Formats: sequence, C-alpha cells, structure tokens
Amino acid sequence: MERTCLAIILAAGDSTRMKSSISKVLHPIAGRPMIAHVMEAIAKTDISTAALVVGRDAQEVTAAAAIGGVKVEAYLQKERLGTGHAVLAARQAIAKGYDDILVAYGDVPLLTDAPLRAAREGLAAGNDIVVIGFHTQNPNAYGRLLVKDGELIAIREAKDATDTELAVTWCNSGLMAINGRKALDLLERIGNDNAKREYYLTDLVEIARSQGGRAVAVDAPEVEMTGCNNRAELAVIERLWQERRRHELMLSGVTMIAPETVFLAYDTVIGKDALIEPNVVFGPGAVIEGGAVIHAFSHVEGAHVSTGATVGPFARLRPGADLADGSKVGNFCEVKNGKIGKGAKVSHLTYIGDATVGAGSNIGAGTITCNYDGVNKYETHIGANSFIGSNSSLVAPVSIGDDAYVASGSVITEDVPAEALAFGRARQEVKPGRARVIRERALAIKAAKKGSH
Ligand code: UD1
Ligand code: CA
Repeated sequence: MERTCLAIILAAGDSTRMKSSISKVLHPIAGRPMIAHVMEAIAKTDISTAALVVGRDAQEVTAAAAIGGVKVEAYLQKERLGTGHAVLAARQAIAKGYDDILVAYGDVPLLTDAPLRAAREGLAAGNDIVVIGFHTQNPNAYGRLLVKDGELIAIREAKDATDTELAVTWCNSGLMAINGRKALDLLERIGNDNAKREYYLTDLVEIARSQGGRAVAVDAPEVEMTGCNNRAELAVIERLWQERRRHELMLSGVTMIAPETVFLAYDTVIGKDALIEPNVVFGPGAVIEGGAVIHAFSHVEGAHVSTGATVGPFARLRPGADLADGSKVGNFCEVKNGKIGKGAKVSHLTYIGDATVGAGSNIGAGTITCNYDGVNKYETHIGANSFIGSNSSLVAPVSIGDDAYVASGSVITEDVPAEALAFGRARQEVKPGRARVIRERALAIKAAKKGSH
C-alpha cells in the first residue's frame, strides 16, 4: 500500500480486574504477552510507525510490543481520562502527518490483520472514519453502532443509550481507522459531556459528520474482538487462540488425534504429516518437521525434531534439543541442549544434557550425562554407532569414540577411545553356597530375638 499509516495502540489501562502486579497486556497468550499478538496483526497491516500509549509498566509493555521489526514509539498517558484522551497522548506522532491512522487496543490478542486492512481500505475509498464493528448476542456494555443509509451516524455508549439504541446488536470493537490529515483537528473537538465524564473516542463519528465528513463501519468476526479484562477471560482467549491455531495446523496437514488436548505456543511450527498424539504441550521455539511423531504426554520446548524422529510417550525436550532424522527419544527421557544423531536411540529413562550423540548410537535405559558439578556445566560427546550400557553415568566433560562400548552400570570419568570397551564398575564376584550361610545366620538372629521376649 502506498499510503502511510500510524497505528496507535491503547495500552494504558490499569488492569484493575486482572488483580495483578503487572499490566494486563503483559499476561501471556500461547507463551507471549498479549500485546505482542496485537502487534503481530498490526505489523501485517503494512503500517509505517506504531505509537504505543502506555501507563503502568511502560518500559516492560514497550519492550514486549517490539516484535518483528515494527518501529514502536511509546507515549505516556499520565491520567486515564478516556479513549479519546488516550489517543491524543500520541499527539506528537499524529502531528507528523500520516495518510491513515489506525487505533487498536492492546488487550485484543485474537486480532488479525484482515479487519485492520478492511478499515484502511475504507479510508482509501474516501471515508474519514471507518469503525470496526462486530455482531454479538451479548451487546452488554459495548458501544452501539447507529447506522443509516449505509453510513455510520453515531456510536452510542451503553451508559448514554436509549432503550431502542440498546436493542442494537452491532457493536463497536473500539478499533477504528481515521483520516490522518484530519485526525488531530477532529480529536481536539472531543469533549467529556457524557455519563462517565470521559473523553470518548467514539464521539469522533458525530464530530466528523458535523464537519462534512463521512463515517462507515466494517464488520469483523466477534471472536477477533474478544477483549481481556480478568483471568477468566484470559483463559477463554487462550482457549480460542489454541482452537484457531490447532485448526490451521490440521488443515495444513498435521494429524492430531485429540486436538483439544494439544497446547501450542505462538511460534510452534509443525510440518505436514507429523502426528501429534494426545496431551502434548509445546513451549516456545518448537519446530517439528513433517513425518515426525510426538507420542502422548510429551513436553517440547525450544527443540527441533527432524522428519521420521519419534518422541515420547512421556518425554521432555528442553531448549537446544535437536533430534536428527529417524532418531528416537523414548519414555521418561529428558534432552536439554543435546544433539541426537541420525537414527540414534535414547529409548528409556535417560537424561542427555549438554551432549551430542552420534548417528546410530544406542543409549541404554537409565543412562545419565552428569553435566553439572553444582557450579559449572560440562559437555559429553558420544560418537557414532556406540553402545552405552544401561544405568551408566557419563561424568562430563567426557568423550566416547565411534563404535565404542560402555558396560552397563559404568561410571565413566575418562574418555573412551573409538572401538574400545570400557568398564567403570566393580568386577562381579560369585561365592558358591554363600547365600545359604547368610540366610541361616539371619534366621538364627530372628529366633534369638523371639526367645528373649
Ligand atoms: C470502549 C468503547 C466502546 C467499545 C468498547 C469495546 C469508548 C468511549 N468506548 O469502551 O464503544 O464497545 O471499548 O471494548 O471508546 N484506555 C486507555 N486510556 C484511557 C482509557 C482507555 O489507554 O484513558 C484503553 C484501555 O486500556 C483499553 C481501551 O483503551 O485497552 C478501551 O478502554 P475501556 O475503558 O475498556 O473502554 P470501554 O469502556 O470498554
Ligand atoms: Ca473495555
């Protein structure tokens, strides 16, 4: 789009109903602050600059909003005197002169770019105000859109509305586009002669019309306009976000047996023909290639799983876990900052941390890389096609060469060269007949105890 655009995002609310020590727009949805979700929709709308109107936690909110290369300027609204007053906190930005101004709220994380684009198109078509509306069964406290002959003639706040106006179910989302060349003049005409004694941004509709301008409303899906005011709504928005994303992934070719039990992060990437079994949780930074299988009850965060690899059930992949093609991390295994080579198998009850496992190696049940001495972390390197016997402790820093063999139950503290066999355990001794001697001695002690009572 050729037209320049300033997006003004209102995030100065004091989040009273969240009962939180932090601003509500910092609360995460799918693992990142809700303000970042809004900014993603804004970023996709080809805007030139974003002006963020902040109140409490100004620094944190501004930092959380800085995503994907959007230029964010923060403006402090010292007193909360209403949405019209809040927009004017960004006066300096507005005064720089943009073709379009988009106003959005920081607490609508399900927003996408589609309604924002539609609103900008409305400006390009010659309207001065384009309000984003939505139809709802529960209009409650929302401002009502009053329309006549295809034009928006007013937005009536519920507290100021007549019964007839309250019956209207087309509501103001709060998001709107304003002719950037007229915006400052129009905004400065907003007064506070209303039920709440606030400067209502919504008055802009009647003001623009009184100046010979034209206002219209465009429709958006109700779900995208869902705002967050308390923790219960936070959970509802999380659910809606998850449902939407799972649906997208399934349509893109991912199989989920029980999608309602799979939890995704905002940036989870899953390829075509991957299978995600029930009760899998993804934290941020997970990339699952097509054809991989994540079995039930696994937790995957900051990890890369290549095609044909299998994970779980009951596996935990932590940041830096990198599973090559056809590898396996099985039940009750944890991998952190560890590369598992092509076709390597880590099948049961194992911890691989700060380590590399070469292609084709087999790590026996209960193997632990001892990467931490209580102060520092050290690395373990295991070559290709090695075999680590069950219940071994590999005390880092330590290396095991290609085609090596570590006996079960070993504590390995020194490097094992390629093709070597290493024992790090006491040699087994067998004493014939000794079991009977021990048992008889024990029975004699028991009999003596009974006799003394
Ligand atoms: C506003 C609209 C209403 C619409 C509703 C949708 C007005 C007058 N009313 O009502 O028509 O249906 O949103 O949710 O605009 N904010 C500030 N500073 C302020 C006031 C508000 O930053 O001084 C921010 C809030 O943090 C919030 C947003 O603006 O993100 C909306 O403010 P809020 O007070 O919730 O407006 P509503 O009364 O819900
Ligand atoms: Ca509100």
